[in-house]
Amino acid sequence: MKFFIDTANLDQIREMQALGIIDGVTTNPTLLSREGREPKEQLKKICKIVEGPISAEVIGLKTEKMVEEARELSTLAPNIVIKIPMTKEGIKAVKILENEGIKTNVTLVFSQNQVLIAAKAGASYISPFIGRLMDNGQNEIDMIRESMVIIKAYNFKSEIIVASVRNSRHVIESAKSGAHIATIPFAVLEKMFKHPNTDKGLNAFLSDWEKLQTKLRK
Ligand code: G3P
Repeated sequence: MKFFIDTANLDQIREMQALGIIDGVTTNPTLLSREGREPKEQLKKICKIVEGPISAEVIGLKTEKMVEEARELSTLAPNIVIKIPMTKEGIKAVKILENEGIKTNVTLVFSQNQVLIAAKAGASYISPFIGRLMDNGQNEIDMIRESMVIIKAYNFKSEIIVASVRNSRHVIESAKSGAHIATIPFAVLEKMFKHPNTDKGLNAFLSDWEKLQTKLRK
């Protein structure tokens, strides 16, 4: 299973990259606007930190505009992947871009039907937003499971990126379903490292070791 980090913050990306557990990065207009920097410059910096796929989203709503923006974004670095919204215009853009060898990530996906359409269009990646489904009172775990069933049933080339991850349980459920990728916010990644018994156990080991050293010195 691959871990992407869902942020445009360079410090967060560097910190997780240094741990060797990050395979890619996803950004979106909200995440980039939070950083307050020129988006293309920020994306170039991100592409230098992480070798894997870096998702950058188009703003245009018409196919022609999306394709034009995507072609420009794809010149920023070889690892740029273009996030395209799950609309009819977006799906047309996916087909054009994938035929040109530009990888796409269909975003704002909230239903299994949308997964199926994006897969048929030939998207490299599809991003179901499970946290927002959960916020809406819908079953986000079924969404992960059934997305994987659909992809595997027809051997679609698309990889599922479980997105809008809210907690570490979402990552476990993604892994149990065999999701290709989870894109995880920094705060959730931090929590995944921690368990109180790890700290407690480590303290006990160190203190017992110290006791033995003191005894041996006597
Ligand atoms: O990758 C998509 C993600 O950024 C959306 O997350 O937390 O805004 O629902 P959220």
